[in-house]
This record gives sequence, C-alpha cells and structure tokens, in this order.
Amino acid sequence: MKIVVFGSGAIGSLFGALLAKHNTVVLVGRAPHVTSIRQKGLLINGKTRLTRMVPAVESTKEISFSPDLILLTVKSYDTETASSQLHPLLHDQTMVVSLQNGLDNIQKIGKNIEKKHILAGVTTHGALFLKPGIITHTGKGKTILGELNGHSSKRLKTLVTVFNQAGIETQMSTDIEREIWRKAIINSSINPLTGFLGCKNGYLLENPLLEKTAEFVCTESSLIVSSYGIRVSPGEMIEKTKEVIQDTAQNYSSMLQSIQQGKKTEIDSINGVLLRIGAKQKIDTSFNRILIELIISLYPT
Ligand SMILES: NC(=O)c1ccc[n+]([C@@H]2O[C@H](COP(=O)([O-])OP(=O)(O)OC[C@H]3O[C@@H](n4cnc5c(N)ncnc54)[C@H](OP(=O)(O)O)[C@@H]3O)[C@@H](O)[C@H]2O)c1
Repeated sequence: MKIVVFGSGAIGSLFGALLAKHNTVVLVGRAPHVTSIRQKGLLINGKTRLTRMVPAVESTKEISFSPDLILLTVKSYDTETASSQLHPLLHDQTMVVSLQNGLDNIQKIGKNIEKKHILAGVTTHGALFLKPGIITHTGKGKTILGELNGHSSKRLKTLVTVFNQAGIETQMSTDIEREIWRKAIINSSINPLTGFLGCKNGYLLENPLLEKTAEFVCTESSLIVSSYGIRVSPGEMIEKTKEVIQDTAQNYSSMLQSIQQGKKTEIDSINGVLLRIGAKQKIDTSFNRILIELIISLYPT
C-alpha cells in the first residue's frame, strides 16, 4: 500500500516506521525532524526498537505519487489547515484516516475532503517526540479503525490487515464514532488534570481527592455525551478511565507534554466541544468549564 503520514510527530512517526516494513511510506513533518530522518533514518526506542530509512518531506508538493492511504496525525488544532493541503494527493480510492484525539477532527477534515474518503481511528499506543529523528514508544496499545457509516467495507478490512501485518494490533469497529466519544471522555479528565498539576497519570489515583475529581469529570462528560444520543454509562467510563490511568501510570499525558513545551493544547477539541454540547443540551458543565479555564491560565489561546 502507498501511504503518506501527514503530521509525522510522535504517533505519526511511530506508525509510519512500523507501516514502512511492508509498504511504501512517506512522512510529512517539520524541518528538524525531516532533516534528521533524511540524514540518519528514523529511530524508534522504548517498547519498539528499530531504525528505519524512510522518505521524509516538509510539504506534500514533494510527493510524486497518489497514496492509497493518508494517515492524519497532526494535533486537532492543525486539522483544518492540514486537510486543506491533502487535496492534490487524492485519487478516487484514497482513504484519509484520522488517528487523532478530539471530537471535531472528522468535521474539520470534511470541510476540505469529500466524506467518501474519510475513515476514523483511535489508538491507545503512547509515543513521545524525544528529539528530531528519535521517537520513544512509551506504551504498547490497541488501535481501532472504522468507516464513518459503520460498514465493514472491503477497504476497511484491507486497512486492518495492513496494520496488523505491520505489527500494529488493530480491530475493526462498526461504531467508530462511539469509540472516539469514549476516548474523549477518558481524556477529558486525565489530560487537563495532569496538564494543570504537572504530574504523571498515575498520581490521579494516588491522591483520593484527585481520584474523586476525575470521577466527577468523567460522570459529567459521560452525561453530556449521553444527552447527545451516544450510548455511554458514567459507571463504565469511570472504570475505563481508572484502567487507563493504571496502564499509563508512569506516563506524562500529551496535554502536559504540550504545556511543558510551551505549545498549544487540544483542550478545545476535547473539553471545549463537551462544554458546548452540554450548554446546548442544558447539562451541567461545571467541571469541564473549570478544567478549560485552568488550562487556558497556563496557555492562553
Ligand atoms: N502521542 C501519542 O501518544 C498519541 C496517542 C494517541 C493519539 N494521539 C493523538 O494523535 C495526534 C498527534 O499527536 P502527537 O503526539 O503525535 O503530536 P505531535 O508530536 O505534535 O505531532 C504532530 C506533528 O505534525 C506536525 N505538523 C502540524 N502541521 C503540519 C503541517 N502542515 N505540515 C507538516 N507537519 C505538520 C507538527 O509540527 P509542529 O508541532 O511544529 O506544528 C508535529 O510535529 C493528536 O491528536 C494526539 O492527541 C497521540
């Protein structure tokens, strides 16, 4: 399969390196990372250890083929700009797959790309951008891919096979949008709490007050999502959130990493979207509102 990974930072580079084993992969990223990959190859350390010589470019203009798959792995605040650059690469069958966190990526991609091209995914892999040319695979996880209309299409089955052949454990979902909502509920507590406190994920369960706060946020977010017609239960989401906290206890959340690097966060695509839906549905949004304000106090948007 011919693959372009657009937004080759932490997770994009990891997936690109793994997919490049059996596929033609080109990474699109920023100058220092791209330059280092061109000179020394892409090094993955941590849970996966490999060095891959893989083509890397700074602009889609440098790509001479039309890919079967474009993996979109920019942060959610870059989705609209990124997807506006993809059009010249598309052929009729090209799949554009978002592996991003956040609740507004599909809508943003849809402003620039016809819906028939778009699929979605979620992944629980953890990746850290250590320095240009080097990515740390911080946690092995699972990946779920799905068609927006829920169909178990031939192209989806092919995609899942390609991912699994690359060593990326992947399942198919007939309700990928629900998976995205569920991941956002989990992220709505872990990310801003750890981002503001500057702690590892595991600390949220070490401190009873923080554990209770995470439960309150999770309940509020679940009620907002339920009111929107998505089947989720607060009890199950609290359990799932605690499971993720335990599994990633030693990790720093992506929101904390962004704050530490002085970068923008994905708060608006997660808690921001939940807040706006809650307000429309007349559901209490106090916890999400407080978390947004705390994060904005660290990085004004
Ligand atoms: N990292 C993880 O463990 C993980 C796990 C699951 C899901 N996710 C999700 O995956 C998405 C990406 O996360 P990440 O941690 O991989 O972020 P990241 O390390 O910031 O990677 C995104 C990369 O895309 C680059 N980029 C943005 N616009 C570009 C453009 N127009 N042309 C070329 N490069 C561009 C960014 O450069 P600049 O920063 O210089 O703009 C950055 O290097 C997020 O939605 C995140 O929540 C991440």
